[in-house]
Parts: sequence; structure tokens; C-alpha cells
Amino acid sequence: MKIHHLLENNSVANTFIAELRSADIQQDRMRFRKNIERIGEILGYELSKKLNYEAEEIKTPLGKISQPLPSDELVICSILRAGLPLHNGLLNYFDKADNSFISAYRHHINERDFEIMVEYLASPSLEGKTLILADPMLATGRSFVNVLEALKKLGTPKKIHIVAVIGAKEGIKFIEEHFPENTSLWIATIDEKLNDKGYIIPGLGDAGDLCFGTKIQH
Ligand code: URA
Repeated sequence: MKIHHLLENNSVANTFIAELRSADIQQDRMRFRKNIERIGEILGYELSKKLNYEAEEIKTPLGKISQPLPSDELVICSILRAGLPLHNGLLNYFDKADNSFISAYRHHINERDFEIMVEYLASPSLEGKTLILADPMLATGRSFVNVLEALKKLGTPKKIHIVAVIGAKEGIKFIEEHFPENTSLWIATIDEKLNDKGYIIPGLGDAGDLCFGTKIQH
């Protein structure tokens, strides 16, 4: 799996990540969602450099020009809830992509242990498509792997791009072991570890709650 790590090089993305992490600034939900969306746009732009392109003739009012344009059939699949602003960012740039939504949540067996429940799924066929799988937090990696399993009935994508904002080393290793080789990971920043509840440390907290408010645990 090829890993593209955005914050390896300094850019304006550092500011968006700092605001996402800041315990004060992240309380502004609209800014929090917007910063995730902005990271989605940047990662989408970076990812676009690795797509396939075919020349198309464009007629301007004054002449013609041959322009390489992306030729892959894209499907953006986001994991609910926190994937929604990341989805928006990706869709801002890949506005002709098809869209897929899947839910994954942690069902807690006790204080520490949880299983990932995958329930809602709305998706077109993925056969031969370029699949962009988006979730801001790559913690244990189990949501991505369970989602991949649930998507199998929709066909085999020709290429998978995973897009995430913050990842833990352990989760990245887990998806490396479970995703096909033709997978690329586009990640803004990588943290060292998880705590005993499976949260990324230092991370940013619960991305879904910060985007949309707290939920009842079940
Ligand atoms: N999901 C989150 O929102 N935050 C984490 O740290 C881990 C999973």
C-alpha cells in the first residue's frame, strides 16, 4: 500500500489540522466541518495527480485545444457520520463522481471493548471503478476493513484510494494487512498511538460528535 502523508511537507493544511485539534477552536462546529472539508479538497487534489487522463478536444470561443481530463469512473464512499464533510470536500473537486454512503459505528460490549457495526449502505456498483473511501479518523482501522468487507457484494474496484485526516500507526498497519495491494492511503497526519478506548492520541477527540453533536451510546 502506498502511503501519501500530507503533513510531511509544510503547507496551509497545517493550519486546518491545528484548528481541528485545538480543544477551543474545535468547539465551533461549522469551522470544524469546514476544516475537514478543506482537507478533503487538498487530499482530493493530491490524489487527482495519480488518476488516469485522456485527451479531449475543448472548443473555446476562439479556437480548439486538446486537454487531458480525468478518465476514471470515480465512486466516493464515505463512512457515516464523520465522513460527510470529508465527502463534501472530495465531491467539490470530483463533482462528476458517483456517491456511496455506509454507516459504521462502535457498539460497546463494555467500557473498553467494542465491535464495529456496519448497517446502512447505499451505493452504485463498484465493479471496475476507482473507489475513494473516506473517513476522517483512521484509528484501529477496523471500520475501514469491515466496510471493505460489506462493499464486496457491489463488485471489485480496479483501484482503491483511502482518504483520512488523522491516522494512528497501528490502524495504518492494520489496513495495510487487510486491503488489496492496489490501495493508496492519502492521509493528512499520522499520530503515534491509541488509548485503551481506541481513540487516537493526541488526535482530536470524537470527530462525529465535533461535526454534529453528541449521540446516545448503544
Ligand atoms: N473516531 C474518532 O472520532 N476519534 C478517534 O480518535 C478515533 C475514532
